[in-house]
Amino acid sequence: MQKTLLFITAIFLLISFSHSRPNRNLGNILNCFAQIGDAIEDITTLVASIQENEDISVILESIGNVSGQIKPLVQECSNPICLVDAQKRCEESTGNSCEQYGAIMYPKCNDGFFNVGCCLCESQCPPGFRDDGLFCAKPDSYGRGAGYPWEFGDDLNLNDAYNRCQRDNPQGCEQNGLIIYPKCAQGFHSVGCCVCSPSCPSGTTDIGVSCTKPVYGRGVGFPMQYNDCENESSQDNDSSDYLSLDPEQLKNKILEYSQNFMQNKDDQDLSVQFAIELSKIMAALEVKSSNQ
Ligand SMILES: *[C@@H]1O[C@H](CO)[C@@H](O)[C@H](O)[C@H]1NC(C)=O
Ligand SMILES: *[C@@H]1O[C@H](CO)[C@@H](O)[C@H](O)[C@H]1NC(C)=O
Ligand SMILES: *[C@@H]1O[C@H](CO)[C@@H](O)[C@H](O)[C@H]1NC(C)=O
Repeated sequence: MQKTLLFITAIFLLISFSHSRPNRNLGNILNCFAQIGDAIEDITTLVASIQENEDISVILESIGNVSGQIKPLVQECSNPICLVDAQKRCEESTGNSCEQYGAIMYPKCNDGFFNVGCCLCESQCPPGFRDDGLFCAKPDSYGRGAGYPWEFGDDLNLNDAYNRCQRDNPQGCEQNGLIIYPKCAQGFHSVGCCVCSPSCPSGTTDIGVSCTKPVYGRGVGFPMQYNDCENESSQDNDSSDYLSLDPEQLKNKILEYSQNFMQNKDDQDLSVQFAIELSKIMAALEVKSSNQ
């Protein structure tokens, strides 16, 4: 029902825009309002999760969903120059190629890394490991059997035991105590006499059942500035301005700007401006939460 109303509003605005704003990009205006409708659904969920004081991980998941909506919203609802300028600022400052998350441009994660939320770059788990977010859970350990002990009839050393083991185990054998064991398979190391435990890949830290992933932050990024489109000198702040706020204050800001967004959903320009601002505040909360 919300969508139908927006659609009617969109047609009405399309007519009035085409008289009052001849210079704006008009081709995508219907997509724009459909996109605002989609964003409203996810913002409503985000507002509810903050008001119900949900766990931060639920709030961050909601933020991810809203950012996913804001990206196409900004693309559909604003002049493409807006996006190009933020990308240029990002690429010039970081010397990296950049990608959009929400309404913010970030340097792309290094090879082998992928972004989690706005601001963290994480590596992928090796094959066989389970991805647990910041950890890679190891595959199961295995036993390497009772081994090959000295037997009656052997010389007074372990050479014969070694040869028996070697004959059955082409990967090779090694001594532990007075017993010869088959070596652990590639990617595993022995723990005590008899268990082969998976090794963590290089660059990760072994914490027993899991390996911690290498993770790095990619900063607060380069937000779009709505004024980019209009060649005005820009006074926009960026997400780093919001980093001085604590998580509770940031949540309140999110509520405030969500409300601003909802109340101005019929205005293409204001919707983009509030979406950009909301993106910055959400990014600041993500950065703050990942620092803890
Ligand atoms: C995020 O979006 C996905 C897919 O639409 C949905 O399954 C999930 O419940 C949403 N999460 C939150 C916290 O809104
Ligand atoms: C605004 O910027 C665009 C792109 O940078 C340029 O093509 C255009 O001429 C500028 N307009 C004014 C009025 O300066
Ligand atoms: C950032 O700018 C917006 C308006 O552009 C303003 O409402 C907001 O308070 C500013 N935030 C900070 C932390 O200065």
